[in-house]
Amino acid sequence: MGEEGPPASHHSQARGGTLQGAIDLRSDTVTRPSPGMRRAMAEAEVGDDVYGEDPTVNALEERVADLFGHEAGLFVPSGTMGNQIGMRLVCEPGQEVLCDADAHVVTYEMGAAAAVFGISTRTVVSEGGRLDAQQLIDQVRPRTDWHLTGTAAVAVENSHNRGGGLVQPLGELQKLWHWSREAGVSLHLDGARIWNASVASGVDLATYGRLADTASVCLSKGLGAPVGSVLVASADRIAAARLWRKRLGGGMRQAGVLAAAGLYALEHNLTRLAEDQEHAQLLAKRLGADPATVETNMVVLDGVEAPLIAEAAKAQGVLVSQVSARRIRLVTHLDVDRAGIDRAADVLAELI
Ligand SMILES: Cc1ncc(COP(=O)(O)O)c(C=O)c1O
Repeated sequence: MGEEGPPASHHSQARGGTLQGAIDLRSDTVTRPSPGMRRAMAEAEVGDDVYGEDPTVNALEERVADLFGHEAGLFVPSGTMGNQIGMRLVCEPGQEVLCDADAHVVTYEMGAAAAVFGISTRTVVSEGGRLDAQQLIDQVRPRTDWHLTGTAAVAVENSHNRGGGLVQPLGELQKLWHWSREAGVSLHLDGARIWNASVASGVDLATYGRLADTASVCLSKGLGAPVGSVLVASADRIAAARLWRKRLGGGMRQAGVLAAAGLYALEHNLTRLAEDQEHAQLLAKRLGADPATVETNMVVLDGVEAPLIAEAAKAQGVLVSQVSARRIRLVTHLDVDRAGIDRAADVLAELI
């Protein structure tokens, strides 16, 4: 399941390639580029992106910045790098970023904010990941008080991974944004799966984008590209982000072959996310999860014997994530079609 620290055995099997052909619902990061995407990659016009000369990377950065209503974008190797640089742009070393205790940026990014950037993080415990603007606002510490670690930024995740793919309420995002302008606090959006949130809520990407100072969005999750995320922000901030990316070793050369996959994904795989969401609903109904808790492409099954079920399902060619001893997570994506969903539902329904 990648982002959730799977057991070591899980990784070693994936490396051995023994999972080919399985119905893999561990994560939407497991997709493989389609023949059309591979063709687009093979045919991409490229240049040295560290020189700013890769036309395909430049096109992707412009396209994504436009989609989110920002001035500029930066292609980065991963969502983690996008998030961490994004937060660094709005938070100085020794200041803090405030976020939900289950946020990816503090749970699965290896303490990067502290380890790499000297950024302090503070968390609030939310209702299953759902944003409550006032709860965060109440915890913000003024940067003018020299007794306190000042809060420079708040980070919000949409959709929320550990929250089972929940979509943040637009009203709460707007409340936080309007408050933040008054308070002089910046907002970072971890939009790894903002595409799923947008397709589910009908709120367009630019509306979400304009409610953040910096936003990191991933091409390698439900959109099905093999690699890459884009950080969007103002032109000045992206110029600074370019230095951070290079400093971290994320300056890539003929990266157009990867950016081409991202452009292809935006063209072909964005609106189809609705299908993944229908598949998640189907799984929920078949497996006894409350469909109302399934807002995007993730289904969480609680109160189950997770290790036993995961092992038994695997033996029948269905892969799921164990989030804890009693919780399983299923993530739908473009590499599992309706027949695969039906088959997975049959196998899991029997086991549960
Ligand atoms: C919500 C969220 N943010 C960020 C990331 C990080 O992306 P990457 O794995 O590309 O570093 C993930 C990865 O799964 C994620 O789920």
